[in-house]
Amino acid sequence: MKNQLEEIRKSALASIKSAEVLSDIEALRVKCLGKKGELTSILKQMGKLSPEERPVIGQLANEIRSKIEQTIDEKTKEIKAKEQEKKLLAEKIDVTLPGKPVKLGSRHPLTVVLDDIKEIFIGMGFDIVDGPEVELDYYNFEALNIPKDHPARDTQDTFYITDNILLRTQTSPVQIRVMEKQKPPIRIISPGRVYRSDAVDATHSPVFHQIEGLVVDKGITFADLKGTLETFVKRLYGEDTVVRFRPHHFPFTEPSAELDVQCFNCHGEGCRLCKGEGWIEILGCGMVHPDVLRNGGIDPEEYSGFALGYGLERVCMRRYGIDDLRLFFENDVRFLKQFD
Ligand code: DAH
Repeated sequence: MKNQLEEIRKSALASIKSAEVLSDIEALRVKCLGKKGELTSILKQMGKLSPEERPVIGQLANEIRSKIEQTIDEKTKEIKAKEQEKKLLAEKIDVTLPGKPVKLGSRHPLTVVLDDIKEIFIGMGFDIVDGPEVELDYYNFEALNIPKDHPARDTQDTFYITDNILLRTQTSPVQIRVMEKQKPPIRIISPGRVYRSDAVDATHSPVFHQIEGLVVDKGITFADLKGTLETFVKRLYGEDTVVRFRPHHFPFTEPSAELDVQCFNCHGEGCRLCKGEGWIEILGCGMVHPDVLRNGGIDPEEYSGFALGYGLERVCMRRYGIDDLRLFFENDVRFLKQFD
């Protein structure tokens, strides 16, 4: 029996030491120490031993049991440590790998140009104001000298919510709203969306952007209009820009003009860019009509003013050589990311 025990000790310790995974260890524990294990079955035969032999064998068996237990514990720890190390190695993060780049957005080209324009006007002491896109017929037309039967309504057909409420066709209604609220001196620009019931093509869109400008004070003359607009255009297009004012007609200004810049491509010769004209039309402007001042609650005998209206898309298209208006509204990032 003693030999058997020694045999168990030898083979158990040897196989524990050579075990490589936790499941092997567990199997060995069951095999040696379990209820039906080798050691247990030997101990079951203790009854056959003489009273002198019994304590000796008993002690030996206990000694072997605790040696096996201890070896199993040690081996278990060793395997666990190895497994942990293996896991850490497998999970190792290579911090030298380049990170995934974060995709940053960019300003919309219309915003880029608008920001430049705002900057210039703010520099000249103008405030930026906002106006509603859903507007009353009164502000969009009537108060600007465009009564119901006026031909100017033909070119500014829009989307009607009711007979009297519509999507504004121009930013000019902001002129009246500002005058109603604010006493002169007034110096504002008001950029925003405007709407017209136009079919979409390369140069038309039912929604586009304008920038309105309004100055009202005592003694404002056409000279102020010319000086301010020339300064604005030169800051935007460069100091060497040549401008001209051409008589025009708008119902809400008198006199009215359009401002052209000499074509920077051909310098007045006429080319494809300016369609052979030598000049490019930039904006509409004029001295605020006395009736319009009155509609805004301002006495035209005391005050005078000038106004301007400006299409943002056209400026932007010219600046970047964009030939299709639709690109502004399609939100294709391949287009948008080229500008800011
Ligand atoms: N509202 C005009 C349009 O949409 C543009 C305009 C012209 C505005 C002359 C003005 C102005 O304030 O003085 O065609």
